[in-house]
Amino acid sequence: MAKKPATVHTVKALRNRVANWHKAGKKVAMVPTMGALHSGHLALVEEAQRKADHVVVSIFVNPTQFAPSEDFARYPRTLKEDTKKLSALETDLVYAPDIEEMYPAGFCTKVMLGGPAEDLESVARPHFFGGVATVVSKLLLQCGPDIAVFGEKDFQQLLVVRTMARDLDIPCVIHGMPTIREDDGLAMSSRNTYLSAEHRDVAPVLYRALIDTAIHIREGSSIAWALREARSRLSISGFKVDYFEARHAENLSPIHSLGDGPIRLLAAAWLGKTRLIDNIPV
Ligand code: PAF
Repeated sequence: MAKKPATVHTVKALRNRVANWHKAGKKVAMVPTMGALHSGHLALVEEAQRKADHVVVSIFVNPTQFAPSEDFARYPRTLKEDTKKLSALETDLVYAPDIEEMYPAGFCTKVMLGGPAEDLESVARPHFFGGVATVVSKLLLQCGPDIAVFGEKDFQQLLVVRTMARDLDIPCVIHGMPTIREDDGLAMSSRNTYLSAEHRDVAPVLYRALIDTAIHIREGSSIAWALREARSRLSISGFKVDYFEARHAENLSPIHSLGDGPIRLLAAAWLGKTRLIDNIPV
């Protein structure tokens, strides 16, 4: 029988629960989300369950990581359905704060970032990582988990959060989990629901371009050439490419040849009004 997770809405209630688990010597994992849960999120919860005794899933659509022109208002809010999906996994606790709990009147502090937050996503979305880092640092400090699980789908976000937790001495292991994909390779994302049927058919080309680029690079093609090929293939398929880059997998610094270190290919591209991001290791 599915066990409905308890839901708390305040920092105080969250801390009480986690303190009791820690007092009993249990390990606690957190999976921060903005809800609209899909199989990718559920895989993060299952990974968290393998790593800890108790799992907290936070559900909060964070306004500070959206620019005024972005989709904050229409971002899917599906707490009831999300809780049902989490029941099936026997998740222990859902933390669903409201905006006033996260950003009470007078809130004015922001985490400032460098390193892996520079470039790539930050070019098109300069507000994004400041908002993510601020809310994630709050979530981690509110909950105090031993480990937090993030998807590699947002690879730059994963590195930004890991670097921030290290630099701010937040005592929590940041664990990355490989991307979960649809059968045709499209990375699962809550925003895939925005795609029209026609664009949904084209969307997996982004993943296929990443795979082929990795193959070209491994087989000795110049990185610059392989990236140019991929960008032009995407444009011909109807994408508007924000970036398609090869970066050092540990710090996202530019990389020019296979010998320069572990390579991660990262891409962001628009199909109509939907922006897709994806990445793979070479
Ligand atoms: O990846 C997300 O869903 C969000 O950026 C996160 C980490 C939950 C912060 O709002």
